[in-house]
Amino acid sequence: MNVALITGASSGIGLEAALEIDHRFTSLDEVWIIGRNEEKLRILSKRLRHNNRIIIMDLTDSDDMDAFEGVLKELKPNIRMLFQSAGEGLHQRFDEMNRAEAKNMLRLNCEALTNMTSICLPYMKAGSRIIQIASSAAYVHIPSFGLYSATKAFVLSFTKSLRKELKKRKIYVTAVCPGPVDTPFFEKSERYTNGVIPLKKLIMNSPRNVAIKAICDAGFKRKVSYDTPLIAILSFFAKWFM
Ligand SMILES: NC(=O)c1ccc[n+]([C@@H]2O[C@H](COP(=O)([O-])OP(=O)(O)OC[C@H]3O[C@@H](n4cnc5c(N)ncnc54)[C@H](OP(=O)(O)O)[C@@H]3O)[C@@H](O)[C@H]2O)c1
Repeated sequence: MNVALITGASSGIGLEAALEIDHRFTSLDEVWIIGRNEEKLRILSKRLRHNNRIIIMDLTDSDDMDAFEGVLKELKPNIRMLFQSAGEGLHQRFDEMNRAEAKNMLRLNCEALTNMTSICLPYMKAGSRIIQIASSAAYVHIPSFGLYSATKAFVLSFTKSLRKELKKRKIYVTAVCPGPVDTPFFEKSERYTNGVIPLKKLIMNSPRNVAIKAICDAGFKRKVSYDTPLIAILSFFAKWFM
């Protein structure tokens, strides 16, 4: 059974990725959509043309992760694409951060993504794709955004080395580094600020564009996917000068 698996499918980039994967890859037998919000996943499920499976799980919960591993062991799918979009941000100074909130972000953005990759890899064969959503924030060192940026630098670094490790198995790995994207992400990340700054609003991309570009870049076996040329240029300069 050929499947594509999308985390963070209930919202934003993950939701758009699920729709695009469903539309584009006719050879898939099933699309698996993962998140905590059952209602949103049910609405998405009805929009998909492929047979699909809703997997309700909290990626930071080790019992949920174990149960998911059990599902894979039982069904033994051929995972053709793993699109990892689940993640959250926190725009706040580190010395003012609630430790539990900081820990949760680290667990979701880094640990859960790593565990998911590890659990899925035994079910991937030559030609499969892993797409991990990092961020252009991985390149910058901005006050009040440091911990989030560090989680995304982790994703970027891990993804790049994983790509090299999996080259022999012909499993292709792409890190996605978008700039600001117009999703509910900011409702959570900006909960301790006065909202998104106007400059960010000005250059915000749509989640659909980001998802499509990421899937195309993974198709071309690209190492990193930038959503726009501007973000590619800004990331390049940030890498060297920030
Ligand atoms: N928006 C931006 O400007 C931007 C820019 C660069 C990178 N990114 C990255 O892009 C990715 C997607 O973000 P988005 O903008 O699409 O945000 P979003 O609309 O808020 O989506 C976040 C997704 O993560 C899932 N999620 C959160 N906590 C979870 C948990 N504990 N267990 C399982 N799923 C969980 C949510 O699903 P449930 O609530 O159903 O669990 C939701 O589907 C994130 O990794 C983010 O860091 C975003």
